[in-house]
Amino acid sequence: MEKDNFHIPVLSHEAVSFLLYKRHGDLTIVDGTLGGGGYTNLICENTGGNCKVISIDKDLEAIEHSGNKLKRFSNRITYINGNFGEIKEILGQLKIKNIFGLVLDLGLSSYQLESEEGFSFMKNTGLDMRAYKKDELTASEILNTFSRKELSEIFESYGDIGNARRLTEAITERRKIRKFKTTFDLTELIKDEYKISRKNETDFLAKIFQALRIRVNNELENLEKVLNDSLDLLEIGGRIVIVSYHSLEDRIVKNFFKENSKNFKAGDNPFFEERTVPKLKILTKKPVTPSAEEIIQNSRSRSAKLRAAERV
Ligand SMILES: C[S@@+](CC[C@H](N)C(=O)[O-])C[C@H]1O[C@@H](n2cnc3c(N)ncnc32)[C@H](O)[C@@H]1O
Repeated sequence: MEKDNFHIPVLSHEAVSFLLYKRHGDLTIVDGTLGGGGYTNLICENTGGNCKVISIDKDLEAIEHSGNKLKRFSNRITYINGNFGEIKEILGQLKIKNIFGLVLDLGLSSYQLESEEGFSFMKNTGLDMRAYKKDELTASEILNTFSRKELSEIFESYGDIGNARRLTEAITERRKIRKFKTTFDLTELIKDEYKISRKNETDFLAKIFQALRIRVNNELENLEKVLNDSLDLLEIGGRIVIVSYHSLEDRIVKNFFKENSKNFKAGDNPFFEERTVPKLKILTKKPVTPSAEEIIQNSRSRSAKLRAAERV
């Protein structure tokens, strides 16, 4: 894939306008998922020298690509090859205590999906799936070493696969004969085991690959961690904006915003309500979704949901 087509940003104008509602004073914004630099670019274009951006990505290729593309803003952007789940440690090392905004555009870039090892079931590559090469666990290791129970949990919870037992039995039988090394080792097993139509096969493979990817990259745990940390990091009036592509991620964001925007929390005694101070104000009663035009121009945007909240 050409690096010029690294990634088409999704809902970028909507995300950045939630984030930058205030433009005066010193602003520190964290773009936790730099990718092809679409969001960071828009933040820099819409602010002046008072705005510093900390742009994080697990993927070194994203950092290198965007560093080149955004050279004109290099004095305002600090690039970090790391995990947004470690945002407190990252900002601590930069001696930053508070931020005005945090934006996350979850998932993977088009470049990763199409050109990096293990993500696409259409190409035969090593079964890796690590966005962060410093992580140890790969998809092939999961398939070759995890117990049936652990495998079933991954496919059921992250891939929404009904009869996961049949799949995990096929995997554990196959690995006795030959270890899983490449993407086609897995796709061929599925094709042998399930004689299904091409369309259903594609949907099924997409679910299986997605489930493995979520587990390899600890995507849900990292999201929960960064949400919790954002409450300590955001200054009052600061905003958090999350774009997600998977119902499990969207549910985590929705519930977190709901929990932290409540005025009252029921105590042990049902007749007594213990007062709690809300930490967030929800800015999106319903998630913002891409326009029909954006979906036509970029089909990858079709499942996107944006939610935003303000620290109060
Ligand atoms: C959908 S892309 C972001 C695209 C970006 N908004 C743009 O406009 O080009 C998601 C990016 O987040 C990165 N990513 C995913 N999980 C991460 C994590 N826990 N920490 C840091 N980066 C992560 C991926 O490597 C990928 O580059």
